[in-house]
Amino acid sequence: MKNVQSITKGVIPAAGLGKRFWPVTKIIPKELLPIVTKPSIHMVLEEANHSGLKDIVLIVALAKKSFFDHLHDFFPQMNFHFVEQREPFGLGHAVGLAEKKVEEEPFVVLLPDVIIDHETTVTQQLIQNFQTIQKSVCAAERVPKEKVHLYGVYDIASSEGKLHKAKGVIEKPNAEKAPSDLGVAGRYLFTPDIFPLLTDTKPGYGGEIQLADAMNILAKREALYAYEFEGRHFDIGHPQGFIQAIDYYGKKEYGNGLD
Ligand code: UTP
Repeated sequence: MKNVQSITKGVIPAAGLGKRFWPVTKIIPKELLPIVTKPSIHMVLEEANHSGLKDIVLIVALAKKSFFDHLHDFFPQMNFHFVEQREPFGLGHAVGLAEKKVEEEPFVVLLPDVIIDHETTVTQQLIQNFQTIQKSVCAAERVPKEKVHLYGVYDIASSEGKLHKAKGVIEKPNAEKAPSDLGVAGRYLFTPDIFPLLTDTKPGYGGEIQLADAMNILAKREALYAYEFEGRHFDIGHPQGFIQAIDYYGKKEYGNGLD
């Protein structure tokens, strides 16, 4: 592949069921639940925009597409491409649906239920690494032992500072079997080599097509790096993380309003 320095495409999968937020997600997508005043997807788009991404592929369930129509108004400089995921067959399936829009370019996947606060966005941090290594590089964070069973965990071959070459990813291992304490963290920069692997991936854990399964093959056939990013990370896909994010951003924007 030719040397690529500019990355302009982002994929945001937003077609999950959001069961952990039922019943509200029966009515609206969880990506629109507000962190105080901003829908969470809005915050992720701010990150994408700040990082130079111009073309955003949004994977959505058709019935909820109209909820996302307002995004054009807030991000007129970005092009939005909507792709329907008919059934929630898994994150790997959702990302694979972006292939035609992404074409043969490296791209960033931003999970909208993860928000990370840092002046240099995580997406920028991944792009900076990519500019040197020209290989797929995904976000990683240190996870306490008692929580590794909740994460995809990188199996590490070698490390240079905060950049680790991965042998693969183990989905939700128990603490004794975890290959490292580096968890997968919701931002992924992939070369287009990931697409044929996603097409070939069979349903795995939970009967869904798992992104981690394709990442495993990518690590073996091509290369996969994990980068320990800088930034404050919130997993807002579950209520506790969501409350933490509201507390953090609420105080950041409005101070201790209740004091
Ligand atoms: P999650 O597993 O966190 O979201 O997927 P979910 O499936 O909506 O949540 P629960 O478990 O039912 O509460 C991470 C991201 O991938 C998207 C989700 O919308 C979420 O933003 N996703 C997941 C899809 O777009 N399609 C899928 O089939 C699965």
